[in-house]
Amino acid sequence: MKEIFLQIESVIPKDIPLLIKLNAHDHTQKEGITPSLAAKYAKWLVDLGISAIEISGGTNHYSPFDIVRGEIPSEELVQWVPEGIRDSAKNMFKEMQGKYNLQEAYNLEFAKLIKPRIGKTPLILVGGLRTLSCMEDIIENGYADLISMSRPFIREPLLVKQIKKGRKDRSACTSCNRCVAALPNDFPVRCYENSFPNKI
Ligand SMILES: Cc1cc2nc3c(=O)[nH]c(=O)nc-3n(C[C@H](O)[C@H](O)[C@H](O)COP(=O)(O)O)c2cc1C
Ligand code: SF4
Repeated sequence: MKEIFLQIESVIPKDIPLLIKLNAHDHTQKEGITPSLAAKYAKWLVDLGISAIEISGGTNHYSPFDIVRGEIPSEELVQWVPEGIRDSAKNMFKEMQGKYNLQEAYNLEFAKLIKPRIGKTPLILVGGLRTLSCMEDIIENGYADLISMSRPFIREPLLVKQIKKGRKDRSACTSCNRCVAALPNDFPVRCYENSFPNKI
């Protein structure tokens, strides 16, 4: 980690901040990243001079939906699976259904553990942030310094502008994950909640 940090730092201009997105939990049964290990790595990064740390959680070890959470778009995902194994893939995706449900701010517990270990270095929280009240609560309680979102901006690129103008309701992103299913299908990333191009 130190070598990678120093190498990147040596090639970027001094006025460009160097941030990291840090996985705080592999969710694997034996070895792997745990929140306490992630807190230790976060402290190392702070000592090296990292500008900010974004806390995420999950790996592709069992499923990419461990990272993003939400629905498993099985019908859309099978489009990239070879025809002969399409039915078994469909069953596999269906079995995953419900295992990775999205709760708002699903990485918050990791942030709470890591924040006191990193001093004044800003902590950015990502993962399932959907309501302004939850985001404000996190910031006001000092659990994180900044909020990060992915799918809400795919669904509504003007979300922040609208919040600044007084919008208070939940992001319209339903976490259906069709935008994630677009990736292996080589479709451009955009919101596909209401339609998904047919590749088959
Ligand atoms: C279409 C798509 C592509 C993504 N690609 C990456 C990626 O390349 N690297 C990464 O660390 N996270 C990636 N993510 C995960 C997001 O950065 C984010 O951590 C996750 O979606 C949870 O945030 P959200 O609930 O605000 O969407 C991707 C997410 C989506 C929806
Ligand atoms: S396809 Fe649209 S609604 Fe579904 S998860 Fe992606 S951005 Fe959200």
